[in-house]
Amino acid sequence: MAFGDYQNEIYFNGLRGVVPPLPVSFAELRDRARAAMPPSVWSYVAGGAGDERTQDANVSAFDHWGLVPRMFVGAKERDLSVELFGSTWPAPVFLAPIGVIGLCAQDGHGDLATARAAARTGVPMVASTLTVDPMEQVAAEFGATPGFFQLYTPTDRELAASLVRRAEQAGFRGIVVTLDTWVTGWRPRDLSTGNFPQLRGHCLANYFTDPVFRAGLDRTPEEDPQAAILRWIQLFGNPLTWDDLPWLRSLTELPLIVKGICHPDDARRAVDGGVDGIYCSNHGGRQAN
Ligand SMILES: Cc1cc2nc3c(=O)[nH]c(=O)nc-3n(C[C@H](O)[C@H](O)[C@H](O)COP(=O)(O)O)c2cc1C
Repeated sequence: MAFGDYQNEIYFNGLRGVVPPLPVSFAELRDRARAAMPPSVWSYVAGGAGDERTQDANVSAFDHWGLVPRMFVGAKERDLSVELFGSTWPAPVFLAPIGVIGLCAQDGHGDLATARAAARTGVPMVASTLTVDPMEQVAAEFGATPGFFQLYTPTDRELAASLVRRAEQAGFRGIVVTLDTWVTGWRPRDLSTGNFPQLRGHCLANYFTDPVFRAGLDRTPEEDPQAAILRWIQLFGNPLTWDDLPWLRSLTELPLIVKGICHPDDARRAVDGGVDGIYCSNHGGRQAN
């Protein structure tokens, strides 16, 4: 897929006096997102842990990478494709799991919008556990593009198994287990406004629609949302140990990818424990600073 051809469309539209409705630079995209979003959503999206130095350090570390282009290679056919987890991706990138992306869209269904973007571009989406719309509805928008389900492992193993089973049945092609979020990072922007979207019942659709989760409640989430939110608090955040890895591995035959690995020894041990992918990440500096 020649992603760059998009610019031809823009220039040709320009001949008719039509300028792109969407920003083309990251800086403008950020500024317009900020202007469009409610402050509580912006604070959750833009903020990081502590003084946000890890967040900034991630950006400057990335800035130090460069590519040295080679000439006289006649790069007429550009091919960025890679083979990963049993399929061919058109580019070596994917959409990271972003809980609350659902709230970032004007219609409040940003998970579906992201899934549709994945379908159009062929760039896989990793759908967060924390979506506005249940995973089955998100997966239904993927088209031919592979999708991945990100699991925040709940403390109840039956619930974890249920979420994974649903992801398999919905057609997800891999499970991404996030390891670095057994407690929420210390996030001053959100703390100073007492803002934590999930406690207001946002982005909990995967729980509220889950048969195991529902079976653990006296009254349904529709009848008693507060009790359901309280139950969610009890279940979220499982400080996993290496002893839990065989169980995690046993949950699925799909590719198992572990997210949040930063140390090479952890990467080796995870591979020895049977995982299929290491997702090297410090959670964008939102967890530990
Ligand atoms: C607003 C926001 C919400 C996020 N929600 C999740 C989430 O639900 N699950 C998850 O595993 N990571 C989540 N992340 C972390 C991202 O998936 C990703 O790790 C982070 O943006 C840094 O990118 P990197 O991992 O490529 O370094 C979130 C990040 C942001 C900015």
